[in-house]
Amino acid sequence: MGKINIPPRKDLEKFLRESENTQRLIDHSNMVADLALRIADIFIAKGIWVNKEVLEAGAILHDISIGKHHVPEHGMIGHDMILELGLPEPVARLADIHMPWSEDEAKTLNFPPKYCKDHFPSNWEEKIFIAADSIPFLAIYMEVDPWTNEPDKLIEAVLPFFNEDYFLPITGKNVEKDYPFFIRWLRSTQEILENYSRSDFIEFRRELESKYPPDYLKEVAR
Ligand SMILES: [Fe+2]
Ligand SMILES: [Fe+2]
Repeated sequence: MGKINIPPRKDLEKFLRESENTQRLIDHSNMVADLALRIADIFIAKGIWVNKEVLEAGAILHDISIGKHHVPEHGMIGHDMILELGLPEPVARLADIHMPWSEDEAKTLNFPPKYCKDHFPSNWEEKIFIAADSIPFLAIYMEVDPWTNEPDKLIEAVLPFFNEDYFLPITGKNVEKDYPFFIRWLRSTQEILENYSRSDFIEFRRELESKYPPDYLKEVAR
């Protein structure tokens, strides 16, 4: 394979603007990309190869469809948009799997048939990226500790958010905390947390707190 051509971050941000996304979304995408690269460096220092170019571009673009399609399958729509922009499949895949829905869950949520398949992370870039999107959501938006040794508490915290935003409006029903999606999503994040310390995230969070007012930072973390 020849060298794939990935535009610099500033140009990727332009794609976000052209797709009617808000400054909040652009700040969110940059936060996820910065955290993902930080986690990647820790893996690379341990001798695990991670493609930082793919990771950064995917992190910047993962929510690109939100401006026009604020739906649970926005990652899959984003995947198709990213390919249309000419970026390679490994970048688009990060959008596709950023919420790791299974085929059954996709059907339950009435996703279009072409998106009814498993959207599971399969390499380090994908797992690191899911963690970088989830850690600020859990720690800053939900105000829970992603490093807890009681993962049940994390699921209890996020359950109302997912039920109100996803399951109730689409299926008319709430899901319980043993719903496989939550277990799969947190297990994938925890695999990364075993290699990424709370103290490094505290440092990262301080940098964010010096950049953004508290209420806005919560929205950026969402
Ligand atoms: Fe998203
Ligand atoms: Fe996101």
